[in-house]
Amino acid sequence: DLKSGQKMVKICCIGAGYVGGPTMAVIALKCPSIEVAVVDISVSRITAWNSDQLPIYEPGLDEVVKQCRGKNLFFSTDVEKHVFEADIIFVSVNTPTKTRGLGAGKAADLTYWESAARMIADVSKSNKIVVEKSTVPVKTAEAIEKILTHNSKGINYQILSNPEFLAEGTAIQDLFNPDRVLIGGRETPEGQKAIQALKNVYAHWVPEDRIICTNLWSAELSKLAANAFLAQRISSVNAMSALCEATGADVAQVSHAVGKDTRIGPKFLNSSVGFGGSCFQKDILNLVYICECNGLAEVANYWKQVIKVNDYQKSRFVNRVVSSMFNTVSGKKIAILGFAFKKDTGDTRETPAIDVCKGLMGDKAQLSIYDPQVTEDQIQRDLSMNKFDWDHPIHLQPMSPSSVKQVSVVWDAYEATKDAHGLCILTEWDEFKTLDYQKIYDNMQKPAFVFDGRNIVNMKKLREIGFIVYSIGKPLDPWLKDMPAVA
Ligand code: NAI
Repeated sequence: DLKSGQKMVKICCIGAGYVGGPTMAVIALKCPSIEVAVVDISVSRITAWNSDQLPIYEPGLDEVVKQCRGKNLFFSTDVEKHVFEADIIFVSVNTPTKTRGLGAGKAADLTYWESAARMIADVSKSNKIVVEKSTVPVKTAEAIEKILTHNSKGINYQILSNPEFLAEGTAIQDLFNPDRVLIGGRETPEGQKAIQALKNVYAHWVPEDRIICTNLWSAELSKLAANAFLAQRISSVNAMSALCEATGADVAQVSHAVGKDTRIGPKFLNSSVGFGGSCFQKDILNLVYICECNGLAEVANYWKQVIKVNDYQKSRFVNRVVSSMFNTVSGKKIAILGFAFKKDTGDTRETPAIDVCKGLMGDKAQLSIYDPQVTEDQIQRDLSMNKFDWDHPIHLQPMSPSSVKQVSVVWDAYEATKDAHGLCILTEWDEFKTLDYQKIYDNMQKPAFVFDGRNIVNMKKLREIGFIVYSIGKPLDPWLKDMPAVA
């Protein structure tokens, strides 16, 4: 606070992505006395943050950025200058899954993290609080601390772990009103002082009792644990959906009845074609790897199963589509409605749509894809990229590929479904609930199929129109019963 004679607190965030951008925008909005700079090595990302077309779509984000940008919120590629000036440095860079070497396919690749830490050590001339915002494997803080202290030139560094719990699609709401803020730090007096400094930032708008302070390792592990629990709920209900289809139970009724138990609760119990997003799979793989490194094979296998059921759910869906359409989709037009990993985001990282589309393409389908927030370039990239390649800074990714021939991307659900044999709903966008399905039916090949991977359509109505309908975990249409999808 300038009035009390203290110098203005300066925050710098390295990494202007889905986490860094929105979290810093909200800090700037809620703390007018703090100057916030968000820096990134990607020039195109920073240019977009400084334009009217922000690089990510998130409800409410535009308004927040508009209110503070140029006042106490700045986006810049001058990483070193802002790190040099900052008191508190958040690090929110990519932490991809390693694709080669030790721990390949599981362990986190900390290349970007380490290079950020070494850069901080290079340019700093004053004491810094360095905050892990990225989700990182347990004990990363210790490694970062070593890099910084071994290059410290007498500067004091305090490392804090402050994992982010926002959910894409509701990020701004989540940041305004978080269930909790978690801050982990060293149990030394300096560590506690650093925790207090970060707590003071959040205390501008978060009630004190929702700010949880722990040691470093607890904070790091809590983030992995929270994501593992969330993903496990989805895999649990998805496992039930397969049993519902086999027995004639309705998964929505089962979830409702189960969720009424206050010990279980109603949220996150929707059956679907599978979970996606940049975090769940990656974080569980990380957890599995940490368990294995600690000799805990049973614990590792327990969590691995959450991912296996998710993969099973996606391939089960593809098998349903193919088997119900006379065991072949070769040359048939299939409309894909929705590509983002969930509604209200343009994010496609690890979206189940990628595996479903690849599965259908493997059976030689012609896909016509529509998503209200995902560009054609992004879809083509996603369908031609190798597993795990997506999680690297954009300028280090393979250049835009020559487009996949079996895929066309259109800008309207009616265009996508015109002359199609079947349509698959892969994202629960609200607009798919209110489409004119009679019009869609009239323009499709017959028999016309709907495969609802998100349980959003009114099955009864669609059957009345004439569609053959498959909805995950719902009693099967007689047609589908006679065409069992054996993997
Ligand atoms: P992102 O890929 O959108 O953003 C990361 C940014 O860091 C990129 O723009 C990249 O260019 C930049 N970067 C990489 N190395 C850099 C360096 N050395 N200097 C400057 N900039 C650099 O990733 P996102 O989604 O923001 O995630 C970041 C971290 O937060 C990940 O560890 C993720 O697991 C975690 N996380 C993500 C959540 C989400 O919903 N996306 C939620 C909670 C945590």
